[in-house]
Order: sequence, then structure tokens, then C-alpha cells
Amino acid sequence: MKADVLVLFGATGDLAKKKLFPALYDMEDLGQLDIPVVGVASSKWTQEVFRDNVEAAVRARKNNADQRIITKLRDEVQLIVGDYNNPETFVQLAEAIKDYKLPVIYLAIAPEFFATITEALAAVGITKRARVVVEKPFGRDLESAKLLDAELKKLLPEEQIYRIDHYLGKEAVEDLLVFRFANTLFEPVWNRNYVSNIQITMAENFGIDGRGNFYDGVGATRDVLQNHILQVLTMLTMEPPIDMDSDAMQNEKIKVLTAIRDINKNDVVRGQFEGYLDEPGVAENSDTETFVAMKLFIDNWRWAGVPIYLRTGKKMPETVLEVIVEFKQPPRALFGKAESNHVRFRLGSKDGVDLSLQAKKPGTKLVTETVDLSVEFVAEFGDRQGPYERLLRAAIVGDHFRFTRIDSVLQSWNILEDILKNPNPVIPYDEGSWGPSQADDLIPGGWAKVGLAADELKGAQG
Ligand code: BG6
Repeated sequence: MKADVLVLFGATGDLAKKKLFPALYDMEDLGQLDIPVVGVASSKWTQEVFRDNVEAAVRARKNNADQRIITKLRDEVQLIVGDYNNPETFVQLAEAIKDYKLPVIYLAIAPEFFATITEALAAVGITKRARVVVEKPFGRDLESAKLLDAELKKLLPEEQIYRIDHYLGKEAVEDLLVFRFANTLFEPVWNRNYVSNIQITMAENFGIDGRGNFYDGVGATRDVLQNHILQVLTMLTMEPPIDMDSDAMQNEKIKVLTAIRDINKNDVVRGQFEGYLDEPGVAENSDTETFVAMKLFIDNWRWAGVPIYLRTGKKMPETVLEVIVEFKQPPRALFGKAESNHVRFRLGSKDGVDLSLQAKKPGTKLVTETVDLSVEFVAEFGDRQGPYERLLRAAIVGDHFRFTRIDSVLQSWNILEDILKNPNPVIPYDEGSWGPSQADDLIPGGWAKVGLAADELKGAQG
């Protein structure tokens, strides 16, 4: 059933400004936001100031925002000002949405408020009929995630909880499933017999952007590896679900996550960019990692023995989200030394896929040269929807497919439990580098080129 009102806690916050209002504008533009939006926040803004801020948030992200759509969005939003610890705020909210049957309550706020707010919502009878969307991070380790789950479950069954990992809303991430399961070509080789290794890189060329207070208690492993990167890994390695029903998919995800072997501490490198300690909100002598790289194995029939490398970091040379699946060499090198085939999934900007093959180098000699078969999705399909737009839509229509189920969330924490409890010391790295050199030593021959370096290589070949 479709929800008939959207309630946004944290409506004057950063996430709302940067992601949610621009997404609501896009939905409005497509005629998909046909329900009112009630913001809740403690900032003492008037309705007019709130609407001006919504408009400014949209304009900051959309150069050519259409005034007609903005006016419509302004008309659809309203703000309830109130303290999250004050029951009166929730009485006001209940009054404001009393005529609606099915609210979606989006908690775009710090996780320490999730349980308190849910209790307060329950006290005014809203949880009985609401879907509750919770932002990441869901806990900070296995124990806290279990605790948070128990708190929420006292008041809400799993079907009413929508846990966000915005990577699951990205078209290119979803394409991993389509690439694998809609192309017969790849399935026979997508296993230990043909794949030599998998590398996932999520790099950002910026730092912590003034989020020191949040980030210093979290670090790269909790901030993005436990969720975004493990989700990408899951999509790449899970078995085909029996259909595209949400539960069928979640059942496969948990299976593959459960097969990940305990990570060896020696296979983990933690780094911290030079200058991190001077960032506002960061503790003196902080040991929080802004970079992490690791090797892991999936001990199942399909992937046994295939090393999988993950890395993520802030202040890297560029912002990229890429996966390289490298294939084994042919059994005989008939044409001399040649590069292995690989598939490169570009999941961030300029998203698309490159299939790197060997072709005969022109000339009299029978030697090879690398060529790429490439597709860039925007060029093929035009602009597509952003993740938050797709996730908001999914919560409104009640589709769990793009949200995480509690078993996978807990298992993701479980996989990282030891390395979070007994972390290796952080190694400093220079801003604009690919992290500590020890991370390169994880892979024999180093990491495959990604981002611009890989594009240049392609250009040179082409
Ligand atoms: C967020 C993290 O979940 O994802 C941020 O908290 C990170 O630290 C962001 O920058 C990256 O998202 P995207 O969509 O820009 O890759």
C-alpha cells in the first residue's frame, strides 16, 4: 500500500539539505511526489524560512531548477519545530498527520535518537501504522546493532523498518545484478575456476568536510566498509536469487556474507591522512582510520581461494568507486606475456562497464594488445534517477528490495568484529596518495589501475 504522508526528522539538517530535498524536487518533477512532506526539527525556523531553505537546498544542487516545480514543492512542505526529547513535539506531529493513514517516517538524524524517537512515536500511536526509515550507521559494532534492533523491534516489526544504505539506491550498483544475471555470457566464468581476484576501491578526493565530531568516533571501516562496500561485494558474489522478490534476494545476501572467512589481522591496513589530527572535532592523538584496505576470502563453492581486496579512503588522488574482476591467464601463453582479461565496473561518476580483452597487435608478429569494450551508461541511457529519489520512492510504495535486512546488517558487523575490537595501529599517508604503501603490498603486483589512470591507459590503447 502506498504511504500518504512523508515525515522527515532532521528536516533542517545536512542530509536533508544535500540529498533529501533535491531528491524530493526530482520526484516532484516526475510527478512522483504526490504526498505532503512534514519536516520535524529543533531549529526554530518559521514556515517561510523553512521553505526558503528547501528552495535554496534544491537550487544549490540543480542549476536549472524549474520555478513551477519549486513552488509546488514549497507548497507541499511544512515544518514542526520541537525538541526530540519533548513529548509535546510528538503530540503536535500526531495532530498534523491525524488524517493520513500510512505515514513514512524518515529518521535523517544521529542514530542515538532512533530508539527515543521511535518510543515517542509509539506513545502517540504513530508506529502502529507507519513505516520507519533509518539512516546508516545502524549501530557501531555487532553488540550495539543488536541492541538497537531489539529497541526498535519492541515497537516495530521488521516489515515496518526500512534501513538505508544509499548504495543500494544507485543504478550502477543495481546493474551488477543485471550484468551478472541477465547475461548468460558471464555466469559460467563467474567463479573460482576463472576469476583470479576481485578488487573494490571506494576513494574520495576530499577529507571529512567538517564532520570531525561524527567521523572521529566512526572511521572508514564503520562509515563505509561495513555497509556500502560490503553491499557492493554481496551484489558481485551472491548466488542468483530465485526471483527478484526482496526476501529471495536478502536470503542470498545473507548466505554469501555468512561464508566470508574471519579476516586475518595481517591482511588489514589502516591509514590516517596527514593533517587529520588538526581537523575540528578530532581528538588529540586520535587513532581513527580515514583509510582501510583488506584482503578477505569467501569460503563457499563458488569463491573458495579467490582473494578479494577492498579499500576505501579519504583525501585520495580522486573520487572513484570501481570494481575490477580479474580473470586467470589462459593455460598456455601462445602469444607471449599478455595482460589478464578483466571487467571494470565504474559505479561512481561516469558509471559504466569496461571489458578488457586481448586482440592481435597489427603487424607481422603474433602478439597481443589490450583493447576495451566499453559502455558509459549516461551516454546510452541519458541521466538516471539518483539513489535517494529511488529509496524515498521505494519506502513510499513499501518495497524492501533496496533496503537492508537485519540479518545482513548484523552479519556485516560480525565479519568486522575482530578487526574493530583489535585494530592495527593507523599508518599516516600523504594527502593525494592511495594510502599507506603497506596497502599495496596486500596484492601481489599491487592494485589494478582505477579512475583516471585506468582511463588514460584505455585512451593510450585506443
Ligand atoms: C556516506 C558516508 O554514507 O557515504 C560518507 O558517511 C561518504 O563519508 C558517502 O562520503 C559517499 O557517498 P557517495 O554516494 O558520494 O559515494
